[in-house]
Amino acid sequence: MNNLYLYKEAPACSTVGRAGRLIDNSTTDDLSFYEDNGTHLYHGNVLDFYNKWETPNAIISDGAYGILGFQGDTVDHNGLAEWYKPHIEAWSKAAKPYTSLWFWNTEIGWATIHPILEAYGWKYINLNIWDKGKAHIAGNVNTKTIRRFPVVTEVCAYYVYEAKIDEKELKKWLYDEWKKTGLPLNRANIACEVKNVATRKYLDQGHLWYFPPVEMFEKLVKYANENGKPENKPYFSIDGKKSLSPDQWGQMRSTFNCPMGYTNVWSRKPLAGKERVKVSKSEGKAAHLNQKPLDLMNLIIEACSKPKDVIWEPFGGLFSASLSARTLDRKSYAAEIIPAHYNLGKKRFD
Ligand SMILES: C[S@@+](CC[C@H](N)C(=O)[O-])C[C@H]1O[C@@H](n2cnc3c(N)ncnc32)[C@H](O)[C@@H]1O
Repeated sequence: MNNLYLYKEAPACSTVGRAGRLIDNSTTDDLSFYEDNGTHLYHGNVLDFYNKWETPNAIISDGAYGILGFQGDTVDHNGLAEWYKPHIEAWSKAAKPYTSLWFWNTEIGWATIHPILEAYGWKYINLNIWDKGKAHIAGNVNTKTIRRFPVVTEVCAYYVYEAKIDEKELKKWLYDEWKKTGLPLNRANIACEVKNVATRKYLDQGHLWYFPPVEMFEKLVKYANENGKPENKPYFSIDGKKSLSPDQWGQMRSTFNCPMGYTNVWSRKPLAGKERVKVSKSEGKAAHLNQKPLDLMNLIIEACSKPKDVIWEPFGGLFSASLSARTLDRKSYAAEIIPAHYNLGKKRFD
């Protein structure tokens, strides 16, 4: 018990957690790097590791919330921009057009960070809401005192890294490439052997634009190279030497699969029971206030990746995303800065 202290007694941290969860920061356990079956867990500041990690298919961010939720969290949302900026910079440097980002936070935390994500090239797709239901407040809230509706939600904002070629969005680039051929737009329908879907969708410049499937892109390329002005060939090329291959085009966007019946509201009770990691067998207290349910991690990982894809979990905590990635046969790279959490998280892989 001597080695254990409350967040609020933890030294050298201006934003220590209000929650007072027990953590053991003088642990003698092994803090060494863990690698097994595609899982990579690092102890320390993730900013020191990003450049060692494989390109991500998905990044799952569950970091500062601005609620003093863990040692190092900020007092309120005003500190979040500064907190996240170096991370967002690193994510954007590593991201490819097929990279997705899931950003867990409070609603005001997400609203604060959203403009920064957009400025760094992350394209907003939608906001998912984890509705924990009334179990989350369990009759503990005096609305006369708090003077608002009790909050029982967290949000998980979904972004993809905006693909650009020659500084252009894909829809503009496709359109410009077709224009360069000198062919009328409606010849794209002949190229794709469709009635009008090519002009209505693939070359549209408004909200009706639709990413041409790989096989349609291949047809557009073939037709343009066979029938377009000879001086501008090859068409749909990045290097001016070769047209993009179907595979390269496929890499221009992220994977997304929604299981049947799901919406953006995830009704799921707060995490409890066996899955909740405890400080120790004798201490029944939950080890981490922010531990996420594996089923929600499974949901987002399966939605945006395929087996063997790479998942980043920069703010590991107890490494729920990495554990989920492991069971779903994805690779993962994760970090956790607090020794006690690193240890407990790592043990989940035993
Ligand atoms: C919200 S919790 C994540 C909980 C996790 N999703 C889970 O299910 O267990 C955030 C974690 O990020 C860690 N953290 C904060 N800043 C970090 C950094 N720069 N590098 C590595 N870990 C960091 C904190 O210690 C904390 O445990």
